[in-house]
Amino acid sequence: MCSVIGYVGKNMSRPFVMEGLSRLEYRGYDSAGFACLSPQDNQMLYAKAIGRLENLTEQFNQHPIDGFLGIGHTRWSTHGVPSAENAHPQFDCQKTISIVHNGIIENHHELREQLQDVGHVFHSQTDTETIAHLFESLLISHNTFKSAVIDLVNHLDGAYAFLALAQQRSDTMVVVRRRSPLCIGIGDAEMFVASDVLAFADKTNKVIFLPDESFALVKKDIIELYDFTGKPLVPQVQEVQVNWHNSQKQGFEHYMLKEIYEQKNAIYSTVKFLQALDETIFDHLGLSLEELKNVERIHLLGCGTSWHAGLIAKFFFEQICLIPTTVHLASEFRYNHFFAEPNALYILISQSGETADTLEALRLINSMNAKTIALTNVASSTMVREAEGFLLTQAGHEIAVASTKAFSTQVAALYWFAHFMAYAKHIINHQQLIAAQDDLLIAAELLENSIENYKTVIAQELAPRYACSKKAIFLGRHVSYPIAQEAALKLKEISYIFAQTYPAGELKHGPLALIDNETPVFLFSHIDPLIYQKLVANAQEVKARGGHIILFAFEGQRELIALADTVFLFPKIKPLLGPLAMTGVIQFFVYHIAKELDRPIDKPRNLAKSVTVE
Ligand code: G6P
Repeated sequence: MCSVIGYVGKNMSRPFVMEGLSRLEYRGYDSAGFACLSPQDNQMLYAKAIGRLENLTEQFNQHPIDGFLGIGHTRWSTHGVPSAENAHPQFDCQKTISIVHNGIIENHHELREQLQDVGHVFHSQTDTETIAHLFESLLISHNTFKSAVIDLVNHLDGAYAFLALAQQRSDTMVVVRRRSPLCIGIGDAEMFVASDVLAFADKTNKVIFLPDESFALVKKDIIELYDFTGKPLVPQVQEVQVNWHNSQKQGFEHYMLKEIYEQKNAIYSTVKFLQALDETIFDHLGLSLEELKNVERIHLLGCGTSWHAGLIAKFFFEQICLIPTTVHLASEFRYNHFFAEPNALYILISQSGETADTLEALRLINSMNAKTIALTNVASSTMVREAEGFLLTQAGHEIAVASTKAFSTQVAALYWFAHFMAYAKHIINHQQLIAAQDDLLIAAELLENSIENYKTVIAQELAPRYACSKKAIFLGRHVSYPIAQEAALKLKEISYIFAQTYPAGELKHGPLALIDNETPVFLFSHIDPLIYQKLVANAQEVKARGGHIILFAFEGQRELIALADTVFLFPKIKPLLGPLAMTGVIQFFVYHIAKELDRPIDKPRNLAKSVTVE
């Protein structure tokens, strides 16, 4: 998603804004821009560039603009193609106002027409430009700056977080939030504003997360916070510990590779953290023991990789807790009929806790008075604030757009929680709960060891061979089907190779026609003997048509191994943890395929992390 960054204070703003933008560049990288008010004559100075942030940095060699009040932006295009005109900041007619914005102004067409009718001239296709022109006209018609801002925010529909600079108030930044995330870091005679705390992690740990539908007038040493009616709000300052050092590449070529290797520790930390919660877990969950015992239905919701974690976890809740579980794509959920069920629990899965589709689904479920828990990696996220309860993974900041350690910790947390629920319901005893925790640690160990086993052959032999493929088919059954889906998504995201996933049993019902010797079939095995036998039959169907099989299997699965062209073998563990053990090798393999193809692995084309628009 786009990121917005702002600075007002005793120092020049550009160094902080550019550093902040580079830290949040994973949120969008179609274009970048910076604007500030000149300390000499209060003129609006700005620079914009298409593409990566370094293109913007180059412009400062020629024009080293700077000021005490500055705003910046990296863009993930929604309205208008990536171009210099559409890059933010956007301006009013006289360039007295500049705006950077994350989100969508849903009524921008209507506003644009009204503004054009009274003479405003637009230069971009963006919805953001309407904010600048509207603010321009409201500053003329209102007596006070504050009342113009109130009128402005009440004209705008949609989800947005934006920052505004206006010549008229050269010491003040306007900071507005409706549904999209935004926070202010409080420094010593300086304020840092950003879409994510990571931007100012080493500057201050005093943070105000703007409440929904609020705006702030921010000066270097004072923050005036208001709701959209103009009523003053008391800013809630939180102490947040975010370690920027841990969020750097630390010698790895890409964030994705670093994050793949961090998984074992991330799973350990997550399991140990959940285990140590003890009785306080009920405060986190927002549920009493009695309520937890009474849960009769579970719904899991998420998008992308988080949805895949949910698809895997369905088997946990059904097999371990014996609770019927349905998995929903959050982006579809709101358009389906909502069935009120007694004793239903909704678990919203989101690494960032900010994904707009998941957040809107959460709001709908909350409005139906059903029980909600956010499973997320970010304690300060909107979902944690808005859900009735939460469960936190301990993956640490994930920077690469393609999710790795966030996914494996979600799977681990859901496996743990399924056992915790089963224990609460007296389906398993305490020893079995402890054993499940140990099994998770074993799976984490296997995840890492398997990468070690295969890393050389993947990097030197297999990735160069399979990087030539134009397309690939992914097959699995039962819990190995969602891991096949996740593997295919990873391949698509970072290598741009077309990949299609099927439950292996469906192959003969149509997709078998796609099998040829040029399209590798990735097959994910299962430990359960019955499912394994079915997979052997599916592999035979592929081989009989001249197909080429890349197999992820468990030791001793000889019939399947004999049918495969390339084999990755994993020691046998608890059947439901098979996908977790395979995760590292899958990611590592796909990473090296993308590397062979020279793809921008951490920031794949057209994508962004933390998608805060629907
Ligand atoms: C985007 C990212 C995916 C991620 C999905 C859900 O599409 O590119 O990697 O899985 O959002 O994100 P969340 O933060 O809700 O888990």
